[in-house]
Amino acid sequence: MSRKGRRQDPARSAAFKILRAVTANGAYANLELARQRGALSSQDAGFATELVSGTCRAMGTYDQILVAASGRELRTLQPAVVDILRLGAHQLLNMRVPAHAAISATVDLAALEVGERLVGLVNAILRKVAARDWLGWLEVLGENEDNLGRIALANYHPRWIAEAFLDLLPLGELIETFEANNAPAKPTLVVRPGLAEVSELGGEPARFSPYGAYADGDPASIAAVAEGRAGVQDEGSQLVALAFSRVEAPAGPWLDLCAGPGGKTAILAGLAAQQGRRLVAAERHAHRAELVSSNLRAFPEAISPTVLTADSTRPPWAPGSFAAVLADVPCTGLGALRRRPESRWRHQPGDVATLNVLQRELLASAINSVPSGGVVAYVTCSPHQAETAAIVAGVADQTDVLSAPEYLPEVPNAALGDFVQLWPHRHGTDAMFLGLLRRR
Ligand SMILES: C[S@@+](CC[C@H](N)C(=O)[O-])C[C@H]1O[C@@H](n2cnc3c(N)ncnc32)[C@H](O)[C@@H]1O
Repeated sequence: MSRKGRRQDPARSAAFKILRAVTANGAYANLELARQRGALSSQDAGFATELVSGTCRAMGTYDQILVAASGRELRTLQPAVVDILRLGAHQLLNMRVPAHAAISATVDLAALEVGERLVGLVNAILRKVAARDWLGWLEVLGENEDNLGRIALANYHPRWIAEAFLDLLPLGELIETFEANNAPAKPTLVVRPGLAEVSELGGEPARFSPYGAYADGDPASIAAVAEGRAGVQDEGSQLVALAFSRVEAPAGPWLDLCAGPGGKTAILAGLAAQQGRRLVAAERHAHRAELVSSNLRAFPEAISPTVLTADSTRPPWAPGSFAAVLADVPCTGLGALRRRPESRWRHQPGDVATLNVLQRELLASAINSVPSGGVVAYVTCSPHQAETAAIVAGVADQTDVLSAPEYLPEVPNAALGDFVQLWPHRHGTDAMFLGLLRRR
């Protein structure tokens, strides 16, 4: 007990602080959770994880519910109060917390974190939220929506993302992919080829990648990971790097054009060494270039890639310097929603056009960096067509499209025409896109 008999609840206080970091400072919920969980008992850590992840996942839908329940726009409330209400709504609508406990614990949290004067308001709004259950609220919000809008609401996705995915998937699969996005991703490890064996990772060998394994528990407790001979990496990322390494390219070095934090650089470093090639990794931001170097720390100097801090749209290297370039460009990350539950609400449809400018520039630079006959892999962690096929279509006058699925014959149902499009519900991976191009 604390001030005025208010109950301090470590799990809810931690959840509030984490959500504040996410909404006010742009923190990633999963990283912030990992940072703060250690101070909690395992039971509180489990509760805080479910509370933060669930609230982040459904935040946009909860905001609509809070507007309807309070009769006011959320911008008229203090941002910290909005976060408290979001946490309360999640407990009321999607956790097995009895309504009276959810309301009284959230009111106590409001009193302790923002002050007694807001207790009445928080209590009143949450009572209105509690007047309906989740399905009841979906019915109310769905009244003004068409079928797609109702599916998006019920599955915690913004409508514009539902529309983008529906360009690629039939309706039944859209729901499957939403469900996969709402489930935590399997923790996946990867060996740096040549430095460790998959058997050292413990766990179950990955379904498709010869370098991966699914393993629960703390990765740092595995010797190969602690020593930098293995790391954490989604299997989709492993597969696109593998496909890139399999394309016949002229003799010469490879370039990883957008390398930070270096997950793909590390797998490519081992594969390049097997082919007797050199690898150069470029990254615009110095702190991310340092992460690339850290991911490469186990490679002996003789085969360790060169890491450059450079703007790859204004490259310090001469045109045609590389035999093949991996352009893993910045994107909306709509393919990694399992890992970043908040990101679906953070991005706006307008972000796509802004990113498209950089994506086009980086792809142009990648093509310029190889000679005629050189290979460029264009990769995004987003299936949104405006970031994928549309960008590749823009360089049709300079390149031939190779059949990317032919370079991943072990992965079924991954072909999107000549491109590879992986999906969480089909492959258990992030929704990575891969286009393989050869310069004319
Ligand atoms: C999708 S991430 C790459 C992920 C990385 N390939 C991996 O597997 O770990 C894109 C990266 O491009 C970097 N970047 C953005 N603009 C850049 C530019 N003009 N030149 C080089 N890197 C850039 C970002 O800082 C970010 O680290």
